[in-house]
Amino acid sequence: MQYDVIVIGSGPGGYVAAIRCAQLGMKTAIVEKYKTLGGTCLNVGCIPSKALLDSSEHFYNAAHTFAEHGIKLADLQVDLPQMIKRKEGVVEANVTGISFLMKKNKITVHQGLGSFVDANTLKVTKDDGSEEQITAKNFIIATGSKPSSFPSMPIDKKRIITSTEALTLQEVPKHLIVIGAGVIGAELGSVYARIGSKVSFVEFADSMIPTMDKTMGKELQKAVKKLGADFYFSHKVTSVENTGDGVIVKADTPKGRGDGPEQITLEGDYCLVSVGRRPYTDGLNLEAAGLATDNRGRIEVNDHLQTSVPHIYAIGDVIRGAMLAHKAEEEGVFVAETMAGQKPHINYRLIPGVVYTWPEVASVGFTEEELKAEGRAYKVGSFPYKALGRARASMDLDGLVKVLADKQTDEILGMHIIGARAADMIAECVVAMEYRASAEDIGRISHAHPTYTEAIKEACLAATENRALHM
Ligand code: FAD
Ligand code: NAI
Repeated sequence: MQYDVIVIGSGPGGYVAAIRCAQLGMKTAIVEKYKTLGGTCLNVGCIPSKALLDSSEHFYNAAHTFAEHGIKLADLQVDLPQMIKRKEGVVEANVTGISFLMKKNKITVHQGLGSFVDANTLKVTKDDGSEEQITAKNFIIATGSKPSSFPSMPIDKKRIITSTEALTLQEVPKHLIVIGAGVIGAELGSVYARIGSKVSFVEFADSMIPTMDKTMGKELQKAVKKLGADFYFSHKVTSVENTGDGVIVKADTPKGRGDGPEQITLEGDYCLVSVGRRPYTDGLNLEAAGLATDNRGRIEVNDHLQTSVPHIYAIGDVIRGAMLAHKAEEEGVFVAETMAGQKPHINYRLIPGVVYTWPEVASVGFTEEELKAEGRAYKVGSFPYKALGRARASMDLDGLVKVLADKQTDEILGMHIIGARAADMIAECVVAMEYRASAEDIGRISHAHPTYTEAIKEACLAATENRALHM
């Protein structure tokens, strides 16, 4: 079978690339080794984690805030198997939606493991062992990523688990030890802390979500601490052991770092390893196509997302850059349009990052630490949620908006939000920054009252000339 383009991998990068290729008139096929489409994001990532975050948040609110709203409940209980079942229903609805989109766009789906025979031929091996060969003028590799680990923390998928297993636990852990307080640790740690687990975070850096603006990590830690969590920052894990019915985690503080004890030993019933993800190219047989990976396992691409073999492109988690679904999607569209002779553009600096904890954290542009490191002159405006009428009405008082603007020109350089609905509010910030708005521009735009978005306007006014109106 000869196609114009074969997409390998059906995650948000791959399936979006396939749709855009089909829209542009290309005869398109997609190859997926799993039975369901949608990749990490839909099956074991974005969607199921958000389903559990929402369920656990409902439980937490019912237990802790409903009474103050005047809603009385008795005998509140967590039914984790039901929570997991609902999550599976949400996943099923989403992956079925992708199959529908493939049919609608006349994209041929080949289920099986794709591996290169040569630079124009792909062998697809189905689960029953049967094989077929398909050829194309162009390829898009979108094979994504898998959880990474270290030899000191051997994943056994029973007690020492990754995010994938943490999405299907059938019992609420009594003590969940989370290694890595990055995005996955913060989100899935929150899920279990909200439904009754004691959660301990062991983190190598000195804060939660350490790659985001430091203010965000500090504020998030305060919120997660309220759930009863413990934190061991500046700690490096030295060993994790499955004892049969539990785990023992040992970590130490490298000399000169942190202020905790030199060595710690924690006993728990599960250990979630969330120390990052690695690009996934296993089984692709890249060498047959004349391709190699870099020292971090990523497929190297140029500015057009072409590999060293020009008709083979690569996108999403398998290449450099943020491992985010919406980044992979943008790249999918970019490659399809490039192949069609168009001149698309991606502004990597303005890809937002969101952590779906409560409060949510959302960010776009430079962090304050990056601006300092660059020696750039900047000013800061911030506005707390507790000064918002909307936040008082809903009792979601934790949070703030922080705006970083150029000291001379007032152009917004970074926007960081922690608080209710931050994930949706960041869209306004991305639009503002795409159009290179100044802080004063946003401060002069009408924002509906009462909404959380007023905090963006007020933070921009604060950045302009310390002109916030409600502080
Ligand atoms: P993937 O989604 O990983 O898809 C790759 C696909 O390729 C897989 O289906 C795989 O089976 C298939 N494949 C691999 N090799 C082959 C082969 N040889 N032949 C055939 N098929 C193959 N990002 C966000 O933006 N927002 C979130 O809220 C978010 N939450 C997350 C929560 C968790 C718990 C995790 C783990 C990740 C989360 N992410 C989130 C990250 C997001 O899932 C990834 O960035 C995104 O899925 C990357 O898309 P992709 O298309 O590059 O690859
Ligand atoms: P991460 O990079 O966000 O966090 C890993 C953390 O582990 C870091 O804070 C790091 O300092 C720490 N760490 C590394 N080695 C350690 C060690 N030996 N001991 C203790 N701590 C150690 O990676 P994570 O959370 O695994 O997520 C992977 C990726 O998945 C993210 O980078 C993100 O791109 C994506 N993701 C996105 C989500 C979202 O957009 N909401 C949600 C979940 C995942």
